[in-house]
Amino acid sequence: MLLWRSNLEIGNESVDSQHKALFEAVNEFNKLTTQGKAKEEIKKYLEFMGNYAIQHFKEEEEYQASIGYPDIEEHKKLHKLFIKDFLAFKADFDKGSGVESALVIKMNKFLSDWLFEHVSMVDKKIGDYAKSK
Ligand SMILES: [Fe+2]
Repeated sequence: MLLWRSNLEIGNESVDSQHKALFEAVNEFNKLTTQGKAKEEIKKYLEFMGNYAIQHFKEEEEYQASIGYPDIEEHKKLHKLFIKDFLAFKADFDKGSGVESALVIKMNKFLSDWLFEHVSMVDKKIGDYAKSK
């Protein structure tokens, strides 16, 4: 389970609240898949998560551009790669006949590892840069 801590904030209120919401979304996905919810419900949740992530990346990239963040291009590539991997997992899930535990275990691990590392290490640098200006 992902726990939000204030030292993960980058100092932009709307980006921080979206990060918090993404943490909650990953925890919710974990809950839905371990509590044996129906495939259709999980499928809908994955759609919501994917759209939320895409919208969040867009807004976060706009914020990076607004402060002249120098690593924005590298950062955009990481967002793009996440979406690609996420959609590949989602396609596997959609293709499956039900909620397959090996796949959802992998998905849960991918989502929580990626999100935590990205927010605590990669996004963190945006906040450090904004503060140094
Ligand atoms: Fe990011």
